[in-house]
Amino acid sequence: MATSELVDPGDVVRTYDDDSWADDAPTRGVETVVESGHVLAFPRLAFALADDERRFLDPKWADPKAKNVSVRWPSGELRGALGSADELRALRAMIVRFAEQSEALALRLFPHYRGHLRRGNTSFRPTDVVARVRSWRQDDTRLHVDAFPSNPMQGTRLLRVFSNVNPSGEPRRWRLGEPFEAHARRYLGAIRRPLPGSAWLMHKAGITKRHRTEYDHVMLQLHDRAKADLDFQRGGPQARVDFAPGTSWVVYSDQVLHAAMGGQHMFEQTFLLDVEHLREPETSPLRTLERLLHRPLR
Ligand SMILES: [Fe+2]
Repeated sequence: MATSELVDPGDVVRTYDDDSWADDAPTRGVETVVESGHVLAFPRLAFALADDERRFLDPKWADPKAKNVSVRWPSGELRGALGSADELRALRAMIVRFAEQSEALALRLFPHYRGHLRRGNTSFRPTDVVARVRSWRQDDTRLHVDAFPSNPMQGTRLLRVFSNVNPSGEPRRWRLGEPFEAHARRYLGAIRRPLPGSAWLMHKAGITKRHRTEYDHVMLQLHDRAKADLDFQRGGPQARVDFAPGTSWVVYSDQVLHAAMGGQHMFEQTFLLDVEHLREPETSPLRTLERLLHRPLR
């Protein structure tokens, strides 16, 4: 087995001492840190569960047919959960509180995004990462940048807030990989342009929710080529990082190479942000790929 090239976790992860989600904690104005591909880690920022919410730390609440328990926005609808009406109301309230606290945190850390950050799905993942049997393309234990076949982002950024609420001391174990530009250069030469008319056809047939731009095509290719490349998975630049229970972390998951290697009981909030509203739009995957390919991609 090839020895992995090392990525220094200290180069990728920036750690902050904040212990509150609200405005009384010190860190703010760190847009350029997260935009340059760092993971912002908060080892003292726990998402607190009420005593009667601890019962939800059990996979039995997750519908086995669904990927996660989630609350969708703007409707606020709870999906993927099993339980009585009362139980589901309490479960939803817990997830909504995570959404609200994450949003307060994001707007404090990134005041430049105020008025532009859009709330995406909030998910609660009570199941073990490695318990899911999946195809290689859906295997998130392989390093990847986030890109979705049916949900083209058209350049819109994916900012994610995670929180490990494991009650038995188990960390969320991740691998982190090389910087986005180096990763794009690794595969870009082999990626062909999409077939003319294919984006129109996929939208028309309901395969994609909206037009799959060339940006989405390239991002999906990067996602798939990295996951299919076992030499890269084993021997590519990477670092192991553990997020202990009580830790929250914030990352652009469309930019930072990541893999979830283990852990159970986590919350995740997705935010969407148009490239134009970044502090430094040129650091985005869209602008990076356009610079490398010498043409607009959307
Ligand atoms: Fe991912």
